[in-house]
Formats: sequence, structure tokens, C-alpha cells
Amino acid sequence: MSAKKLKVIVTRKLPLAVELRMKELFDVQLNEDDHAFTQEELVDAMQTADVLVPTVTDKLDGRVMARAGEKLRLIAQFGAGVDNIDVQSAVQRGITVTNTPGVLTDDTADVAMALILGVPRRLHEGARIMDRGDFDGWTPTWMMGRRLAGKRLGIIGMGRIGQAVARRAKAFGLQVHYHNRKPVSARIEELLEATYWDSLDQMLARMDIVSINCPHTPATFHLLNSRRIELMKPEAFVINTARGEVIDEAALARALKSGKLAGAGLDVFEREPAVNEELRHLPNVLLLPHMGSATIEGRTEMGEKVIINIKTFADGHRPPDRVIPAIL
Ligand code: 8YV
Repeated sequence: MSAKKLKVIVTRKLPLAVELRMKELFDVQLNEDDHAFTQEELVDAMQTADVLVPTVTDKLDGRVMARAGEKLRLIAQFGAGVDNIDVQSAVQRGITVTNTPGVLTDDTADVAMALILGVPRRLHEGARIMDRGDFDGWTPTWMMGRRLAGKRLGIIGMGRIGQAVARRAKAFGLQVHYHNRKPVSARIEELLEATYWDSLDQMLARMDIVSINCPHTPATFHLLNSRRIELMKPEAFVINTARGEVIDEAALARALKSGKLAGAGLDVFEREPAVNEELRHLPNVLLLPHMGSATIEGRTEMGEKVIINIKTFADGHRPPDRVIPAIL
């Protein structure tokens, strides 16, 4: 199939450089006003496109997938996470799915580290005081937070982003601990001076800060549930830059409100863009609107990855970032 003739439908507005290049390469339909596609618009796109470029805001579940047209051969997700896509049913229908890993690792790890710093040191509380004009003068006991150096950071999910968080955390004097399906290589463990915990429960009970960096899959849904939150120390902080669904958000809000946890820094939510009302009003919670990978560089490189995946697929090769259901 010649790439020039490929009908590519992009569901959201992408960085200008990416859109311009797509216009040169494909018969592309862009989303100029950047509205979120309705279910009907999505189905319509799946029936007319050879290639669909969705993002996290498009729910491509089994029902939507069942209505895909014969032409649709590739779903080239703009994003690393693919939990919005029923990859199994796509593959069963002979549709290849790709994503954009790697290029958003450092950006997302930076935001995780910003939350790891920001929540224990109460940066959001300080900023709010200044916004309100309520700074009356320094006192020795005002706005005291918790020191990072020497504390234990437990990373759940030691993939690319988890490791990038570990590198940053180590530079701030945190001790790195992690839980993963399997340990990382001895070389990486040594480099990060990281301790592997086979038991998530045991790790949680001993950590001062817990950072979620695993994908959302059926196996990780509500991994941090009320039972596990109960295991944590009341002085502990929870950071999430992965997916909201990995935490039982209502249970987390209850724990934060009742003092069973010291604070949380969240960039992602269970029912995005909706956010648990209680979380929004707690002073010990720093919330961000899913901006982990939001840099011009990162989003442009994500777009380039999408283009490379489409081009290689159209040229008859295996695209570099094919998503295999078995590894989800
Ligand atoms: C993206 C993300 O902004 O790539 C991901 O998985 O969570 C974000 O960094 C978004 O998902 C794009 O689809």
C-alpha cells in the first residue's frame, strides 16, 4: 500500500510540526478544533480510515472495535499507555496496534520527581499562600515539611519510566526500592542501588513515598486498594503519574482525609477528567491535569513515532512499536 494514499484519521490536535509532516505524507484528516470524538465519530473514523491515530481520550473498547471497517489495518496510538484500546479484539480482527514508548520517559519521570519533591515539601500549599497574599512573615515552625534524603521510595513498576524516576530519586538521596513482575537486571539494580520486593504488601508497609509507574492492565486495576493503603505508614506519601485506575481513588481520598496517609501527588485520575471532589479539597494533595508528557519536545517526538509506525507499516515492515497483547 502506498503511504501517500493512506487515509489517516487523527482524533486530537497534534503539535503543528507533526500535523504538517502528516499532511505531506498521507491523506490525513486532522481535528482542527481539537474536540473529543463522540462514540459515533470514533466509529465513523474506524469505518473510513486505513489508519486511526487515537489518544488516551478515545475509548476503543470491544464494542467500538467490532464496528471497525474492513479498511482499518492499523491503530497508531499517540501515547505510551494503550489501556484505552481493547488490543486483544483489535489483533483478533487483524488490526495492528502501535504506541509511542521511550520518548516521554524523561518528561514523565520529571513530573513524578516534581511531585515527590513537591508534596513532602508542601510546595503547592506554599504557592497557594502566596497566590492569596497570605505571607505574613517567616517563623521557625511555619510550613515545615518532610526531608527527602534518607527516606525510602518504593516504585511500583520498574520499566523505563520507573527506572528514570529511580535515577532522579537517587540523586536526591532517596533509597530506591521497587516492586515489579520480575526483578530488573543485576546491572541496573546495582546502578540504581535498588532493592527488589517480590511482595508488594511487604514493600508498602515500609516505604515513606510510593510512586506508581506501572501500566493500567486488568492485573493492576486498583492495585493500591483500601487493604493495601491500610498497610502503609501514616507518614507516607503516594505519587501517581501512571494511570488513575491503578489506585482506588475513593479509598485513597478516605485515607488522606482521615490521616492514614500523609499526602498525595496525582497527575492521573480514575475517571478523567473527573476528579474525586474530596481530593480536590484536601490541603495535603497536589493535583495536576495529566501533564506528565506535556513538553513540546515530548509531544513532537511522540508524533514522529506515530509517523514512523505508520510509514514502516505501510511499507510492509513490522512497525517498531507494535503492541503485543501477551505483554500487556
Ligand atoms: C499522554 C500518557 O499525554 O502516553 C501516555 O500513556 O499517559 C500521556 O503521557 C497521553 O496518554 C496521550 O495519549
